[in-house]
Formats: sequence, C-alpha cells, structure tokens
Amino acid sequence: MKIRKEFLPFSRPSIGKDEINKVTTCLKSGWITTGALCKEFENNFCQLTGSQQAISVNSATAGMHITLSALNIGPGDEIITPSMTFASTINMIALRGATPVFVDIDYGTLNINPDLIGEKISKKTRAIIPVHFAGAAADMDKINNLARKYNLTVIEDAAHAVGTYYKGIHAGGFGRIAIFSFHPIKNITTGEGGMITLNNAALEKKLRLLRFHGIERDAWKRYGKGGNPAYDIAEPGYKYNMPDILAALGLAQLERWQELNLRRAKLAELYFEGLKGISGIDLPEVPEYDHIHAWHLFVIKILALNRDEFMNRLADYNIGYGLHFPPTHALSYVKKKYAEKIGLLAETERAADKIISLPLFPDMPEKDVHYVCTAIKEIIRHG
Ligand SMILES: Cc1ncc(COP(=O)(O)O)c(C=O)c1O
Repeated sequence: MKIRKEFLPFSRPSIGKDEINKVTTCLKSGWITTGALCKEFENNFCQLTGSQQAISVNSATAGMHITLSALNIGPGDEIITPSMTFASTINMIALRGATPVFVDIDYGTLNINPDLIGEKISKKTRAIIPVHFAGAAADMDKINNLARKYNLTVIEDAAHAVGTYYKGIHAGGFGRIAIFSFHPIKNITTGEGGMITLNNAALEKKLRLLRFHGIERDAWKRYGKGGNPAYDIAEPGYKYNMPDILAALGLAQLERWQELNLRRAKLAELYFEGLKGISGIDLPEVPEYDHIHAWHLFVIKILALNRDEFMNRLADYNIGYGLHFPPTHALSYVKKKYAEKIGLLAETERAADKIISLPLFPDMPEKDVHYVCTAIKEIIRHG
C-alpha cells in the first residue's frame, strides 16, 4: 500500500462556523470570563443529562478535585476505582490524602467489573468512581445497588460520556454526581473544560464556593451594575471556573453533539467491518445491556506482535494513535504508596500491554478508516 504523505492524527476537534461565531461574539461582548454564557451552557447541559444542577469547571480533573473536597473525602477514606482510568482520578484521590482501591475490569469493554466491587468494600469505603470507558456505559444498576446497600457515593467519571446512555438514561442522570470532560479529544470540546452534574442543591452550593476561591458571589454579579465588589470567605476555595469564551465554544459544540456522535458511530462501524476476522487483534466489545455508545475511543488489542512495536509500525504508515490508559496501579508513585492495596488485577494486566486507540474523530474521512484497516492488515501479515 502507498504510504500517505500527510500525518493522520489520532484525534482532532471539529470546529465549525458556529463555534467561531459564538466565540467571536463573546470576545466582542466585553465579558470573557465566567458569566451568562457559562450559565447557559450549564442549563443546556442539565437538559442533556436530566440532572438538576450542572457546574462548569476548567477541567474534569478540577471537577473531581472539588467534588472529593466537597464530600470531605480525606485521610483514612478509601475510594473504589478501576486502575484502567486516567491518572488524574488517582492523583486527585492521592492529593486529598485518601486511598484508591482498585477493582478489575471486563477485558472486552475495559469497564469496571461490577461483580468484583463488593469484595473491595470496607468500613473505610466512601465512594465508587466508575468510568464509562470509551463511551460505553458502566453497569450503573449494579453499581448503584451496591452504593445504596453500603451508603456510598457514586461519582461517575463521564469524561468519555457525552451521548452515553444506559437503559435510556444519559450518563449523569442516575448517580449522585457525574463529571464530564471537554478536553480537545473529547466528544464535545471547550479547549479545556469540564462539567459536574448532580441533584443536590446543598452540594451544588459547596461546589460553587470551592470552584471560585470560596467567594459567595460570582465576579460577573459583583462587577455588574449596582453590584457590590466586596466579599468575604468562610472557607478557602480553588480557582477552577470556566471562562465564557470557552462556554461559547461549548454551547456551539453541545448543539452538535448528536451529529458529532453519529459520525463517530459510523466510523466505529467501518472499523468493525474493516478489521473483522483479522487474527492477532481483539476488537472492542460492547456491553450486553441496553445502552447507547458514545464511541469516544476505538480501542483494539494487539496480540500478534508487541504493542510498542505495532505503534512504531503505525507511525511508519503516518498514522497517529493513543494509549487509554497506562494502568494507574503501575504508576511509580501509586506502586510505592499503595503497594498493599493493589491486589490482583488480572484482566487489567491482560489488557494493559495490548491496548491501542485508533484514530477516530468526526471530521475523519471514511477513506482514512480504510487506510488504517489496510495498514493494520499489512502490519499483522508481515509481523
Ligand atoms: C477517564 C478520564 N477521566 C478524567 C479525565 C480528565 O479530564 P480533564 O483532562 O478534563 O481534566 C480524562 C481526560 O482525559 C479521562 O479520560
């Protein structure tokens, strides 16, 4: 096969005229930090998820940090999470002084195995953080049942889950709290950003304070006509608010989420067709229960040759790729700090050195999926 000249990236945001117009209007408006556009973005996000409240933040990581803070999670507390997640979750748990307790995954979907959670619950457990991995809904009924039984908080890691549905409910529509990411590779983007959704007005108040220094009123209200710029702080907070410039981008992206996800689903379908029957790779599996997949990522597993060697070969074909994720229990500080808590994670280990995320983004031409599939066939054939 002829090698393409242009590099095919692993991901690329889809930015259209509407995104540019909305951001430009914001830039010209005289108010570019947190204000009316963030409020509108939050309201529209509530409509998508069916949650009562939504709080915009400048990353999902920031959202996780203030969520754990607002729940007073700290030293002595244990938080159940898959190891197969982004390091930011474990970092936030560690920075709060709490302990991550890892639960193994299902090899096919890479989602947390809900049947293994029960045995990891102890008197110290405070929360469960399932990930809707790659946009495939985690098994929320089983997870929520356990949480009810043991009085635990569920914090859905919905970083991959704009457009993910579980039994007709959008991610964020059942757990107590969910956190979405709008990083540039995500299904909708604000450049950097995130959203916390919840159904709890008291917790919302705490989160809004923690999001902005601990100051009661937003700057746009303090500096508006007749506003009082004075403030008091009862508890110190962080600086994690989303600026309106980013909310403008988010509003335009949110209007397009269905179009963007349909395109992702189409490309995933083409990958399934193009890679069908190739021995030496495992294709992603989808959950058996009723769900809608957001196809944030298309993760295959390489069995035929060493995964790192396979990555080098893809690079020779001018194809980009991602790695979601290096398992967090193998990160240096995690291994050192929580050694006795790690336990056996057989399926995580089995998947870890085989996974690779293929290029998948809404503006990716269909011919590029065919190119990737042909390249993979050639690489596997020649070893
Ligand atoms: C599963 C998961 N959780 C959390 C995050 C953190 O998101 P952010 O980059 O918005 O902080 C990511 C982002 O890559 C992610 O993939």
